[in-house]
Amino acid sequence: MNTTLSGKAKLAGVMGWPIGHSLSPRLHGYWLRQYAVDGAYVPLAVRREDFAGAVRMLPRLGFAGANVTVPHKEAALAAVDEAAGEARRIGAVNTIVVRADGSLMGWNSDGFGFMENLKAGLAEWNPGLGPAVVLGAGGAARAVCAALVDGGVPELRLVNRTASRAEALAADIGGPIEVVSWAERESALDGARLLTNTTTLGMAGSPPLDLALERLPPEAAVTDIVYAPLRTPLLVAAAARGNPTVDGLGMLLHQARPGFAAWFGVEPEVTDEMRTFVLAGMEDQD
Ligand code: ATR
Repeated sequence: MNTTLSGKAKLAGVMGWPIGHSLSPRLHGYWLRQYAVDGAYVPLAVRREDFAGAVRMLPRLGFAGANVTVPHKEAALAAVDEAAGEARRIGAVNTIVVRADGSLMGWNSDGFGFMENLKAGLAEWNPGLGPAVVLGAGGAARAVCAALVDGGVPELRLVNRTASRAEALAADIGGPIEVVSWAERESALDGARLLTNTTTLGMAGSPPLDLALERLPPEAAVTDIVYAPLRTPLLVAAAARGNPTVDGLGMLLHQARPGFAAWFGVEPEVTDEMRTFVLAGMEDQD
């Protein structure tokens, strides 16, 4: 973090509860130092019952804005004065910008982060190439599906344990989304060009994802939004059979770019050195 703040330092942070495991202060801190910005980005531990009031304090405390994480992303949509189209469609805000008149603008950069991560990691892939399979229908899946649909995916097979959640997602996001039952998840891989896990399965402390990859074409890209561990069992299995893979840490890094640019006035870059720096922070966590 920058140690030479002036009285004019720009301020931002991340609001969540709990917040102690957030990597956002570390990754924004890296950029602040990298670009020698007179600014600070701090963890803001905000309880659910305090969130609406805390958001209103951002302009009053002179903050340029904030990121919003679990469990406040949906409440943030209701709390801002204006929300961008993608945020309304996804039903959640993860980036708040305080405008010149003190009003609050809400964005959702998760879909942007997802797509930029795939573009950076896969030279040959674009959403138009063929069907995508998305596992899960939570908040992350909403952002991923919106980004794929907007990117021109011809067919999106949405697989979730609870079918009603997948149906609701498909209705809210629109586009070529076909809901597939959890039992049919392996046949959904036929002819796919992308497989994305947005469920918590495979995360440290959660059960593994039970999915045989035999029916997945060898050229299909595989990505997991889980990044702890970085190489999930799904990514290990996919790489072992020759599928191109992209881990989930990049989505976290890329989703941070629009907020940083808006608050601090510099378009930041995601680099290998930055990834290594953020990863070292993950290893330090208990
Ligand atoms: P987020 O908002 O971060 O995406 P979430 O809303 O908790 O998180 O969603 C978690 C996803 O993991 C959901 O799709 C969930 O499936 P359900 O909608 O059926 O709950 C999925 N998930 C979690 N545990 C699962 C399990 N044991 N088997 C299958 N899917 C699971």
